[in-house]
Amino acid sequence: MGALDPSSTPLKSLAESKGFLYGTSATPGDLKDRQFTDVVIQQCDLMATGLQLKWNMLRPTPEKYNFGPADELLGFAQQHGMKFQGHVLAWHNALPDWFGSYATPQNAQQLMLSHIKTVVGRYAGKMHSWDVVNEALLPSDQRSDGLRNTPWLQLIGPDYIELAFHAAAAADPHAILFWNDYGIENESPEHELKRKFFLQHLTALRQRDVPIQAIGIQSHLDASSKHFPGPQFDAFLHQVSDMGLKIMVTELDFTDSLPSSDSAARNQLIASRYEQYLDLVLKHHSVIAVLTWGIADKHTWLNGNYKFPRKDNSPFLPLPFDTNTQPKPAWYAMARAFQNAPSR
Ligand code: G3I
Repeated sequence: MGALDPSSTPLKSLAESKGFLYGTSATPGDLKDRQFTDVVIQQCDLMATGLQLKWNMLRPTPEKYNFGPADELLGFAQQHGMKFQGHVLAWHNALPDWFGSYATPQNAQQLMLSHIKTVVGRYAGKMHSWDVVNEALLPSDQRSDGLRNTPWLQLIGPDYIELAFHAAAAADPHAILFWNDYGIENESPEHELKRKFFLQHLTALRQRDVPIQAIGIQSHLDASSKHFPGPQFDAFLHQVSDMGLKIMVTELDFTDSLPSSDSAARNQLIASRYEQYLDLVLKHHSVIAVLTWGIADKHTWLNGNYKFPRKDNSPFLPLPFDTNTQPKPAWYAMARAFQNAPSR
């Protein structure tokens, strides 16, 4: 292949030539932006639902499902030949307002299982993959199993995880079912502890023949971190792969703490971190997809309601395209990493 260029060597082609997918999440608002849709059509062969399949968007009342926004995104993905990823089934966050007063230990299991049956069943045969259990680990909650003390765990018990996977597999036997988590990428004691608990749970799920086929590594990373992903994370990826599980990078983006006055230096640092991270991850043949959480800085969640804004309140620059949807150094870094990845 000749020189790297967003239109002649889009990320999806570079990825496809190595046997994996590249994609982004999209929200209902994103779809109204022609610059966004143009660049996504050009670059992506996988699309994840940013908000549309979260409980708080899908379930305005306990009785009612609102599938309109997710159907619209699926239609867009299908029209442009992209595979589709569902996010998310069992998560402690983005639950509807009615959930707290409605869900009880008596009805919670049925509530979760009927939700999964209805939602996964509706899209059966159309989903590449499903984020079944999201962010279920939180060692600082001080449980001996490292699980987060979520409403689902409190109401159903730790078995909610395997119940969710079984229900999803029954409703769509072909989608790749994964457990998605964060805070497992860095070379720090906290992340290493979370990796240890994750491996314990994955081993137990495999031993019990729970239908989990992959893990998602969110990868919301800090380009300025002293604990940037390295050998311990690499060892974790080996261990996950050795279990026969596939791996997806599901929500990649970068914060940074360089001064805002030098956006060129910030973009260079972020680009070098993209390449460093993807070089490490893509060595593993079990990696079947890379998704960024959005594709252009204009739409990043980090410049909305992120709870740790930059000290000077200037915008983050986390994605491969800028606020005018022009390619940034990060795009070229991703393209190089994809080009240098081994085939799988
Ligand atoms: O839709 C309303 C809008 O009408 C209103 O004007 C605006 C005011 O703030 O809020 C809008 O909704 C917000 C929505 O994002 C769209 O911007 C919600 O309050 C806000 O909670 C929601 O945050 C999303 C968050 O998940 C919770 O669902 C973020 O956009 C989304 O990027 C974030 O994504 C998560 C993944 O699902 C899981 N992993 C971490 C990742 C980042 O936090």
